[in-house]
Parts: sequence; C-alpha cells; structure tokens
Amino acid sequence: MPGTRRPLVSGNWKMHHNHFEAIQMVQKLAYILNPADHDVVDVSVHPPFTDIRSVQTVIESDEMRLVLGAQHCHFEERGAFTGEVSPGMLAKLNVALVIVGHSERREVFGETDDDVRLKAAAVLANGMTPIFCCGETREEREAGGTDAKVTGQVKAGLAGLSQDQMAGLVIAYEPIWAIGTGLTATPEDAQAACRVVRGVVAEGWGQSTADSVRIQYGGSVKPVNAPDLMMQPDIDGLLVGGASLDPDEFARIVAYHRLIG
Ligand code: PGA
Repeated sequence: MPGTRRPLVSGNWKMHHNHFEAIQMVQKLAYILNPADHDVVDVSVHPPFTDIRSVQTVIESDEMRLVLGAQHCHFEERGAFTGEVSPGMLAKLNVALVIVGHSERREVFGETDDDVRLKAAAVLANGMTPIFCCGETREEREAGGTDAKVTGQVKAGLAGLSQDQMAGLVIAYEPIWAIGTGLTATPEDAQAACRVVRGVVAEGWGQSTADSVRIQYGGSVKPVNAPDLMMQPDIDGLLVGGASLDPDEFARIVAYHRLIG
C-alpha cells in the first residue's frame, strides 16, 4: 500500500572522488545526518569501484547507518572480461544495492535491455538489490513516447523475475533529458511516469507486488525540489547524481521529510 514503502535516497557519485575523498565524504555525511533521518529514510551511497572497500570499512567500523551501493557490475561471475567487476565481488564487500541500466551505461557504453536483464538477475542471485533505471530521451518525450519507452524498458529488463524478487526491487525513473542538466521533471510529470512504471509491475507481477516495489525519481534532484517530488504518491525515493557529491547538499535532500512531515 502507498505510504508503507520505506523511502530510499541514493547518491550516485558516478566517476567522482578517489578513495581518500570518499572516506571524507561518508564521514561528513554520517556526521550531518541525524538519527531521525535514518529512522524514516534509507540512505545509500554509490561510490566508484576503487572506493568501495574503503567506504565499506568506514561504514562498518563506525557503525554508520548508510547503505553501501555500487553503480554497475557485469552479469557473469568470473571470466575473461577485462575491466569488469562481478556481482559476487560486490556482494563480498557487503554491497547491498547495485544500479543497473543507468542511462549513461545504456547510452555511452551501449548496454542493451538484454544486458540489463542479465545484470538485474545476477545482482539478485548474489543477494543484492538492483536499482533498475529507465527513462526517456527528450525526443521521445516530445513525441509523446514516454510511457511506451518506460514500459518497454521495464518489461524487457525485468522479464523472468519472480514476484518475490520483484517485490524487493527498486526502480528508478530517470528522464534522460533531466540528468545533469538542471532540468527537473515537474512533480506531476515524474509522478505520472512512476505511476506507469508501477502499473507495468502490477500487470506483470500483481498489484501487491507493485505496491511493495520502491520507485525513485532521478534527474537534477536538489534540496529545493526534493520535498515536492517526495510528496507524490508513486515516488518512494530519489536517485541523486550531482547534488550527492556535496555532503551538505545531499543531507539537505535526505532531510526533505522534515518539510513534508
Ligand atoms: P543528476 O544525476 O542528479 O546529476 O541529474 C542523476 C543520475 O544520473 O542518477
């Protein structure tokens, strides 16, 4: 049921911060966030691969309530895949959440729906949760193709998952034209797309599964627009890029709940 899904605010650092900077980032973030934030919102950080071991050590030794995430992985467990990292390697570092199918992976690195489907399944098989990304380009939106694009991505990328696997999933709706551009979808447009996503899940896996899937909005989220986005009934969290690089700004996004009560 709406309202019972626990919000999740995730910081996708992309290719920013070396491991020294990463340690400072999480220490500062943990210092600024207060227990009331953690009581109502799950907060995850998604550093680059080279930082993950350092961030894991800091989170665990200081007993921080931050959730450790990754930005990407391969779907195979091992093999001749130069430069890749397997889901099992991430699971061994207590990574809990892995972003799959981010639009930058799809657009810049040519990941297909099929790659994304294999990755989501591999992440789940390793006991972690995918943050499955979908979203339309500006041209697709202007042509009225938002719903079809998002529906197609969700169906193709999540095909074959069981109800149980789906129920714990996180899906991020990220309109590509809003990522890193300073342009944000209006709360109403973001809500409309997230509702479509939930509808696709309901159609494929049943209404109760759809009611438990957490859906994030991403694309130029800032402290100023976070509360209005989070007030929408089908938006359960935020996937934050640029604004997650500054612990003060990210903590102000997490604190959206103080403004909407
Ligand atoms: P942005 O990135 O917040 O910088 O727009 C969001 C994302 O790519 O996840």
